[in-house]
Amino acid sequence: MPLVSSLALIKKARAEKKAIAAFNIHNLETIQAVVEGASELRAPVIIQTTPGTLKHAGVEYIGAIVRKASELYDIPIALHMDHCPSYDTIVACIRNQYTSVMIDGAHLPYKDNVRLVSSVVKMAHAVGVQVEGEIGRISGVEDDLFINEAEAAYTIPEEAVEFVKDTGVDTLAIAIGTAHGMYKGEPKLDFERLSTINELVDVPLVLHGASGVPDESVREAIARGIAKVNIATELKNPMADAIKSAFAQNPEENDPRKYMGAAKAAVKEMVRNKILLCGCDGLAI
Ligand code: 13P
Repeated sequence: MPLVSSLALIKKARAEKKAIAAFNIHNLETIQAVVEGASELRAPVIIQTTPGTLKHAGVEYIGAIVRKASELYDIPIALHMDHCPSYDTIVACIRNQYTSVMIDGAHLPYKDNVRLVSSVVKMAHAVGVQVEGEIGRISGVEDDLFINEAEAAYTIPEEAVEFVKDTGVDTLAIAIGTAHGMYKGEPKLDFERLSTINELVDVPLVLHGASGVPDESVREAIARGIAKVNIATELKNPMADAIKSAFAQNPEENDPRKYMGAAKAAVKEMVRNKILLCGCDGLAI
């Protein structure tokens, strides 16, 4: 089937108090791992890329591979651009059939953030593409983006309401104590803040930085209104571990199909675990 809108998937999951798992991919094997894992569990899925992945793999290749995956499997697949600070890159994604985009102006002063996000919303909505925005700042490392603890800021519920009204975003990423990358200690999420935002804001909410968050916290966040869960690092780690272990077992290995095959299997297993955690298995009609 053709690529679908992520918003439709997210709304369907939210209506059932579930969430769609959104996976950051990096290459052919990680795309295959996500789609195979999702297909086995009959789960709708969001495949997403950061600007760094587009630099690495090229937006045309990613667009073409994910469109082909969507033709080959009969589950709903959305293609999303994650944490993009650039209007022009978003245009390139849309030209390559991304079905939703995240414009990240969270580093800007509020007015400039609203100006940037609104301009993307206007352009994207004109061609039927949905937009995720972020208010508050999620700490940690993703791509070239590094937000230290001091720069991180929890989402203020009233500001979230204003931001959605001022920009017209379709989904909202909020900062409630998660961080990109793995955690040193156990992350403590601000569930009260999440519930308040969920009561005040009517667009679906997105949890970034889900890697390393204990399963019971992810479940609680979904029960309190999170409808999209972003996972990046927890796919990178099993991939790297599988490749390291393939070379540890056979340092002379030179067949990419062997070590990348092992990497793909490890990523797929994690994809299955995360889909089951989000409860979106079986949601593909
Ligand atoms: P993690 O790397 O912590 O999984 O974060 C993923 C993310 O939020 C992508 O936007």
